[in-house]
Amino acid sequence: MSEARILDGKAFAARLCARIARQVGALQQSRGLKPGLAAVRVGDNPASEIYVRNKTKQACEAGMNSWQHRLPAEASQDQLLDLIRRLNEDRQVHGILVQLPLPGGIDAGAAIDAVDPAKDVDGFHVINAGRLVTRGPGGPSGVMVPGTPLGCLMLIKDHLDKLEGLEALVLGRSNIVGKPMAHLLLAEHCTVTIAHSRTRDLAAMCRRADILVAAVGRAELVRGDWIKPGATVIDVGINRIEGADGKTRLVGDVAFAEAVEVAGAITPVPGGVGPMTIACLLQNTVTACCRQAGIPVPEA
Ligand code: GUN
Repeated sequence: MSEARILDGKAFAARLCARIARQVGALQQSRGLKPGLAAVRVGDNPASEIYVRNKTKQACEAGMNSWQHRLPAEASQDQLLDLIRRLNEDRQVHGILVQLPLPGGIDAGAAIDAVDPAKDVDGFHVINAGRLVTRGPGGPSGVMVPGTPLGCLMLIKDHLDKLEGLEALVLGRSNIVGKPMAHLLLAEHCTVTIAHSRTRDLAAMCRRADILVAAVGRAELVRGDWIKPGATVIDVGINRIEGADGKTRLVGDVAFAEAVEVAGAITPVPGGVGPMTIACLLQNTVTACCRQAGIPVPEA
């Protein structure tokens, strides 16, 4: 059997970001409108610092306004909610994201639900989550779909012409990836199973899957012999492990070297799903901006 096609998320995301930059340029030229993204970070989680910096930097590179708001780790719930309310009212801000995780003393659910659903470019608000489940993505409902599963779906569709009737296994049940991913695949008429850390005989479940999305955060959990020959494998995991040489390296939730021999297509880590998350966040910000202005998203 030949090696899997590598689904290059980095290159795909670069093309998407170039298209977004053209859309932003067109909005500015034709309407004098500049999409704006505000990122909120609380405390000093080092991973969050890098993620937020990358998001605001790429928003700027696409020609948008972008702001970073940082509160100290000791900030109160009220301080955070006040900041979110101010951003909700700011007409220059079209998209708001509150970087997770939040420090222990803060109720993340309350913070997410304080964001105006129309500005919720992460798609985490209960209204957006509910719209996705009940009405599906697209259409007139005005749903915002979380960036990571949206990016995964784009990569899957880039490889597969028709998803209808395929067996899809989503490994992981987070609100950020697993649950919305399952609903996106359901809307594509896949037969969807959600598995997780307590699922019995995970290997047998995986072997049935034509599409396997791994998002459990367990380094190289999915082995090559768990994969159905020819399957499309999307690896959302980003795990840092120490190699035999004592150096650390990033690996996904899938044992790539084994899986690439069996799968039909597979995303690498890094360079697979990761870059797609930010590109989709920027796409959501353009969409939010256009909806708030009552205009269609410009073609580019
Ligand atoms: N933490 C991990 N992933 C995400 C994400 O996509 N958005 C936000 N806001 N926080 C995260």
